[in-house]
Amino acid sequence: MAGREEVLSAGVVAGEEAEEESGLRPRRLADFVGQAELKEHLSIVLEAARGRGQAADHLLFAGPPGLGKTTLAGIVAAEMEVGLRITSGPALSRPGDLAAILTNLEDGEVLFVDEIHRLPRPVEEVLYPAMEDFQLDIVLGQGPSARSIRLDLPRFTLVGATTRTGLITGPLRDRFGLVARLDHYPPSDLETIVVRTAGILGVPTTADGAAEISGRARGTPRIANRLLRRVRDYAEVRGTGVVDAASAREGLATFGVDDLGLDKVDRAILAALCQRFAGGPVGLSTLAISVSEPTETVEDVYEPFLIRQGLLMRTPRGRVATPAAWERLGLEPPRGPAPAPGLFD
Ligand SMILES: Nc1ncnc2c1ncn2[C@@H]1O[C@H](COP(=O)(O)OP(=O)(O)OP(=O)(O)O)[C@@H](O)[C@H]1O
Ligand SMILES: [Mg+2]
Repeated sequence: MAGREEVLSAGVVAGEEAEEESGLRPRRLADFVGQAELKEHLSIVLEAARGRGQAADHLLFAGPPGLGKTTLAGIVAAEMEVGLRITSGPALSRPGDLAAILTNLEDGEVLFVDEIHRLPRPVEEVLYPAMEDFQLDIVLGQGPSARSIRLDLPRFTLVGATTRTGLITGPLRDRFGLVARLDHYPPSDLETIVVRTAGILGVPTTADGAAEISGRARGTPRIANRLLRRVRDYAEVRGTGVVDAASAREGLATFGVDDLGLDKVDRAILAALCQRFAGGPVGLSTLAISVSEPTETVEDVYEPFLIRQGLLMRTPRGRVATPAAWERLGLEPPRGPAPAPGLFD
């Protein structure tokens, strides 16, 4: 049965889905849903630069994964009608890698550096004069005979993205003309995004169906789009092909997404915390190992949502389950004094 194979192979089409994701990216600022304040700031900056016929000031987008940082980099290039070059912090391991990219830029182009907090320090130092004075300092030779030359660079716009503002050094941060933080999206914005995506994918979707999906999307457009695709699969195979409230509820339950939007990994984290570590406190890396996820993923992706839902707390001594977490797992919270909230909560 073709339909059944489709569901079973859902896990292996990641590559195609990644491609589909880029097709879902809004191309212009007007199509970018929500984040009203950020859009207003950005449109002023871009329009002013266009009016002056200059490259836009350097921009830094910060915020959790899947909220639209890469999308915005594309939008900046499209709105300025210039080319977009894409690279990332970890890809630029030596200063020469960055120098090669910078000297090949065309006037006005946008250079997008994803995960800019992971730039090695010597590479970051090449960026300072490039951002500030559009100059590149190159050291030729070594030892006493070494000399340094300065090259002029074209005027370009650096767009940086980071999931960790805290890891951006002061000097780098200060060189951006605009630092914009992306916040999680309210359900109403996610609903608009689900309806928009359903339109692009040609999936018949009711308003109730879109609402059901957006309520479990953890404030994150990427997750909203992913849940829509899973519900589409479910509706095509087990339902009428229409994404409505019933197929959304049943489909999401089938794929292990509960009414809050918690998935298997979230529940595994809570279960490990409550059952294996008696509610904590337990260190982040220990917790991450016990659910076989990278520490960074737990910290950036899962934990912020669990904290926002009041299921987990960060304390100076480690992670602690809240009474709500025990309740969610259908477990009795341990008796005795509740763990005191930490200094840094
Ligand atoms: N405001 C928005 N309106 C419509 N769709 C959006 C919006 N923000 C994000 N999306 C959708 O969510 C998906 C993920 O967005 P994007 O790749 O830009 O996130 P990101 O912040 O770069 O994530 P990461 O930190 O993982 O790189 C995109 O496919 C895009 O279609
Ligand atoms: Mg991205």
